[in-house]
Amino acid sequence: MKVLVIGSGGREHAIVWKLGFSRKVDRIYCAPGNGGIGGQARCVDIKADNIKALADFAAKRKIHLTVVGPEAPLAMGIVDEFQRRKLKIFGPDKAATQLESSKVFAKEFMRRHHIPTAPFKVFTTSAEAIGFCKSVQYPTVIKADGLAAGKGAVIAKDEKQAVRVIEDMMERRLFGEAGASIVVESFLRGQEVSIMAVADGTTILPLLPSQDHKQAYDGDRGPNTGGMGAYCPVGFVDADMMERINEHILQPTINGLASEGVNYRGVLYAGLMLTDTGPKVLEFNCRFGDPEIQAVMPLLQNDLFELMMAAVNHKLSSFGKLNWRREAAACVVMASKGYPGKYSTGAKITGLEDVRDNNCFVFHAGTSRQGARIVTSGGRVLGVMGMDKNLKLALNRAYRQVSRIRFEGAMYRRDIGSRPGQPVKI
Ligand SMILES: Nc1ncnc2c1ncn2[C@@H]1O[C@H](COP(=O)(O)OP(=O)(O)O)[C@@H](O)[C@H]1O
Ligand SMILES: [Mg+2]
Repeated sequence: MKVLVIGSGGREHAIVWKLGFSRKVDRIYCAPGNGGIGGQARCVDIKADNIKALADFAAKRKIHLTVVGPEAPLAMGIVDEFQRRKLKIFGPDKAATQLESSKVFAKEFMRRHHIPTAPFKVFTTSAEAIGFCKSVQYPTVIKADGLAAGKGAVIAKDEKQAVRVIEDMMERRLFGEAGASIVVESFLRGQEVSIMAVADGTTILPLLPSQDHKQAYDGDRGPNTGGMGAYCPVGFVDADMMERINEHILQPTINGLASEGVNYRGVLYAGLMLTDTGPKVLEFNCRFGDPEIQAVMPLLQNDLFELMMAAVNHKLSSFGKLNWRREAAACVVMASKGYPGKYSTGAKITGLEDVRDNNCFVFHAGTSRQGARIVTSGGRVLGVMGMDKNLKLALNRAYRQVSRIRFEGAMYRRDIGSRPGQPVKI
């Protein structure tokens, strides 16, 4: 079978890598790919948002399954276009993707279907939002409706900050149209956890829980990033808690979507807060988390291609249970100095060839190939994964490899996975 993976980050490298173990897959293409994905797939020079060119490619090469990595092409309707052309594709369609692309849609959907989430109000004018902020408890959370590259959710510590955030979003349009509507919601306390699951429209199979580290520096300090590392599984989420999450959140979400005529196929990612009164949804994403999936995929024993095909073909109910290695995995992101702000690119990366550990893998993100050299080409450069009997050993393995890899200005957190169970500070 031939598979096309769309995207160019560490997440897509992890998908390609895992598909490479499938007995059924004999050729993998990746569009556009990066400097490392070429090791496991043929990179095709088509950008992830060029939907027409991607569909033409899939048709011409008779691709059996296309897998969409990032959210942007999903929100643009890549799945609708592929389906119109009778091309098999793994991912939710444009209507379903609103769960991620519109926070207002997601919150109102949760309200309609009694899915636990923070109490909230939606505003379309700054005057009303500012008025409301006089009466709320602080901290409070303000979220731009649309996609804002991970910067659209702000925890305001007092009314003054809340007003400034609302003005930034709604009047100064810091995030453009994404700030035309906003959500103001109550601040939830507890542990954050990511639950990714695969759905076929009616059945949903959760993957193991994971946790990521958003802030740039050790001790959860510094600006928010796309994610500086992740680990899996998460000790404080036991089988009972997973059952509860499935029963109260994942399944009702798929059922609710189905009742509204949305056939949700692909990845449903629930960002949760485990509060004193149970798990509550912070947000939904409609694709795998990056770098969470780099720590989850290595533990999955099932064939990823078969799992994705079952989702696309509405056959997950007969897929059986997912099987997992009884081990732990961790992914440490190596980034360019300055990330998530300004950074330079083009630095030569050395030490990649020294990775000879079977329980380690270096997923590439912002890298490109220049002849025989691999150079940096983005903020997040590499995701170094280690896997072992427990989290501590997995982290040791990952960090041992990190210390062998060098490029000018390389920075990474030294405390990935080191404080599981600690409440997230604000
Ligand atoms: N209601 C809330 N209570 C406490 N923290 C929150 C709340 N909503 C969001 N957060 C924090 O803000 C982060 C970003 O919010 P999220 O809704 O995931 O938006 P996005 O990922 O689109 O920026 C979350 O990971 C969480 O740490
Ligand atoms: Mg989030």
